[in-house]
Order: sequence, then structure tokens, then C-alpha cells
Amino acid sequence: LSFALLVPAAGSGERLGAKRPKALLEIAGIPLVVRAVRPFLSFPECTEVLVAAPREYLNELEIVTSGLSDKRVRVILGGTTRQDSVGLALAALESECNAVMVHDAARPLVSRDLIAGILAEFKDDVTAVLPGLPVTDTLKLVREQSNDVERTLPRDRIYTVQTPQMIRLEPFRAAHRKAKAAGFIASDDVALIEAYEKGTVRVLQGDEQNFKITTPTDLERARSILAAATIV
Ligand code: CTP
Ligand code: MG
Repeated sequence: LSFALLVPAAGSGERLGAKRPKALLEIAGIPLVVRAVRPFLSFPECTEVLVAAPREYLNELEIVTSGLSDKRVRVILGGTTRQDSVGLALAALESECNAVMVHDAARPLVSRDLIAGILAEFKDDVTAVLPGLPVTDTLKLVREQSNDVERTLPRDRIYTVQTPQMIRLEPFRAAHRKAKAAGFIASDDVALIEAYEKGTVRVLQGDEQNFKITTPTDLERARSILAAATIV
């Protein structure tokens, strides 16, 4: 079983409010995109890595990722939405592989263990595997205008999901084609399989440290986790 890694890194990082895209921000001197990609490179199953970059930062992302010194890594031009960026990465694939893993450049604390867990769970009976965490807060359904509570939702089967999301290549390509034709934009990758393809999408236990850096608070949290770790 082999996979190509697709790394959407073409966002502008508006909610973080830095001048540069999140992928290029550094923690202890190492850019987030480098941290996000590095753990995958020790897997021989990884045939290729495509990093989708914003047009104005193509060059900088090339310089930064060349620091990984791995011939499997290439930078390509991303798109207007995350889904477009992933679609463009899919179209740019050159290696032979059975599946892709899609992983946000904005999740720099992904572990080798989580990647290995996803690979192990990716058996013949599934089309996709992704990490998720059960919600711990109570969930309220709230009315639109008044903000009045309509009811409390049962939360025992509700998960918040992360990347890397591992998806079989051919159904993923087909789902991307169909979504594009229909103008459907989903907020994660496996949603396209759910919408257009048959097959099981399985959630495995995620990792609380593998959160997405969205706000300045998230960046601070990642900085303190790495500062407290013995190995950075
Ligand atoms: N992404 C992308 N192409 C886009 C938009 C987003 O490749 N057109 C990537 C981001 O670079 C990020 C990941 O998708 O690694 C998750 O998106 P998000 O956290 O929303 O990042 P940004 O879009 O950069 O942030 P914001 O929404 O705050 O502007
Ligand atoms: Mg965004």
C-alpha cells in the first residue's frame, strides 16, 4: 500500500492575522509546513509529497521545503478554496500510488504514531480513514434569529475530525470531478466520498495535540507544547 501526501498550504491565514501565510510561520525556527510534512517522510509507503502554495509565496515555499532535502517533495500552485488546492494537487500527481493522505500545513504537531495508526486502519474494507475526537462539551441546537435553545443534541456519536485523511485514489479523483461539476464545496476531504462515492469512511482515535492552528491562541499553544517537549 502506497500513498501520496497532499498538503494544502495555499491559504492566507486571515484569522491568525500574520502578514504571511500560516505555512511559513515558524516555531523554534522551523516553518509550520516543514513540521507538518516531516513526520510523513520516514514512511517508505509515501511516494510523493505535493505542497499547494499561494501564487505570491510559491518561491518561498520552494526554498523552505527544499530544507527537507527529500526528492519526493514538490511545490505546486494552489487554488481559491482549500478544496481547489487539494484538487490541483491530485491533478499534479506523478507517482504510482493507491491512496492519498491529505494533511493541513496548519497542523504542525502531527505524530508518526498517528500516521502509522491511519495506515494500519486502512484495510481493504474502507475507502477512507481519518482521525477524530469525541466532543466533550454539551451540544445545543439554537434558533437562528433569537438564539433561543431549541433542544440539546445527543453527543455520544459526534466527533470533531482532523487530518491526515487517507482516501483511496480512484474514488477520490471521481468524487472531486463530481463535486466540481456540481459546484459542491465541502469543509473536509472525506465529505466528498460521503457525498458521491460508496464505501466506508472510518474514524479512528485522533490526537489532541494535532489541532489546527487557526488563531493566535492556537499558535501560542503549539509554541508552549514544543517548548515543553524534550525533542523539538
Ligand atoms: N488552504 C489551501 N488553499 C486555500 C485555502 C486554504 O491550501 N485556498 C489550506 C491552508 O493553507 C491550511 C488548510 O488549508 O493549511 C486549512 O485551512 P485554514 O485553516 O482555513 O487556513 P487559511 O485559509 O490559511 O486560514 P484563514 O481561513 O483564517 O484565512
Ligand atoms: Mg481558510
